[in-house]
Amino acid sequence: MTSLNTIRPRRNRKSNTIRSMVAETTVTTNDFIYPLFLVDGKSQKVEISSMPGIFRLSIDLMLKEIEECMNLGVRAFDIFPAVEDQHKDRTATKSYDSSFFYLKALKEIKKQFPEACIMTDVAMDPYSSDGHDGLVKDGRILNDETLEILGKMALAQAETGIDILGPSDMMDGRVGYIRTLLDKNGYTDVSIMSYTAKYSSGFYNPFREALDSAPKFGDKKTYQMNPANRKEALIEAALDTEEGADFLMVKPALAYLDVIRLLKDNSCLPIAAYNVSGEFSMVKAAAQKGWLDGDRVMNEILLSIKRAGADIILTYFAKEFAAKKI
Ligand code: PBG
Repeated sequence: MTSLNTIRPRRNRKSNTIRSMVAETTVTTNDFIYPLFLVDGKSQKVEISSMPGIFRLSIDLMLKEIEECMNLGVRAFDIFPAVEDQHKDRTATKSYDSSFFYLKALKEIKKQFPEACIMTDVAMDPYSSDGHDGLVKDGRILNDETLEILGKMALAQAETGIDILGPSDMMDGRVGYIRTLLDKNGYTDVSIMSYTAKYSSGFYNPFREALDSAPKFGDKKTYQMNPANRKEALIEAALDTEEGADFLMVKPALAYLDVIRLLKDNSCLPIAAYNVSGEFSMVKAAAQKGWLDGDRVMNEILLSIKRAGADIILTYFAKEFAAKKI
C-alpha cells in the first residue's frame, strides 16, 4: 500500500479534547443579548404560539426570569413592550409617557439588577395604530417628522436608566438625531446599538405576533433594506458610525451571514447580529416534528453567526443555550 502524504488533517479531529483545543470559534453566554416580551399586569405568562418556550411576561415574572438568566450567565436583555390596542395611536404617544407600564418596568428592572445590561427598542411600531415604525401620512412613512417622536421615545427610555438604545426603525439620520439629543440632556453614557443593516424580511412574523405589531397596511420596504443588497449595508454602516453609533447590527442573521462578515471586515465597531424570531421558530418547528435535532442545530447556528464575524448575538436561544451548557 502506498502511504498518503504525511499531512493528515484528521489528526486534529481525533478526540473531543483535541477538537476543542483547535476550535477557532466559541460561543459563550457573554456573547448574548436575550430579547424578552413585557406585558402589562401581574402574574401574566402567555406563550407566543409561533415561538415555543418564549412568553409575554408581566413585570413580576420578568424580574424572576432576569434573575434566573443572570444566574445562568446571561446578563444582557432587550425588552420589548406588548401594547394593548386601546393604548395605540397614530403618533405612538405612550412610547414617551413616563407613567406607561413599559417605562415604569424598565426603571424597576434597573433598580433590582443594576449590573444587568438593559437594551430597549426605539421604533414606533409597538405603540402605533398603523403598525409602522414611522409616522404615516397619506399612506407614506414620513422620515423627519418621525425623528421627533423617536427622540422623545429615546429620552424617555434613557431617563429610566437603561444602558443601550436600539433604534430599529431605519429612518435616515436617526442615530445622529438621537445621539445629539441624548448628549444635550446629559445622557452621554447611554449607548446606541443601531439596527444598521435591517432587511425587509419574512423572518419577523413570529415577533409581530408576539407584540401584535404587524403593519395595518402595506409593508416596510420603503425603510427596511432590500434583501438583494450588500453594498448598501456599507452606506448604512458609514452613516451610523459617523452619527455616533457604539455598535452596528445586522438583522436577520442567517440569511445575511455575508453581510455580518462584510461589516466586520469594514468597521472597528463591535458587530451585533439579530438571530430573529422566524429563525428561532423554524428550528423549533422542525425539532417538534422530529425532523431536526434542535440542540445540535441551535449550537451550529450560533457558531455560524460568530464565525461570520458577530461579536454579539441577540437570540431567543440565549437562556436555553446557557441552561444546557452549565
Ligand atoms: C420593530 C422590530 C422588529 C423586530 C425587532 N424590532 C420587527 C419589525 O421590524 O417588523 C424583529 C425581531 C424578531 O423578528 O425577532 N421595529
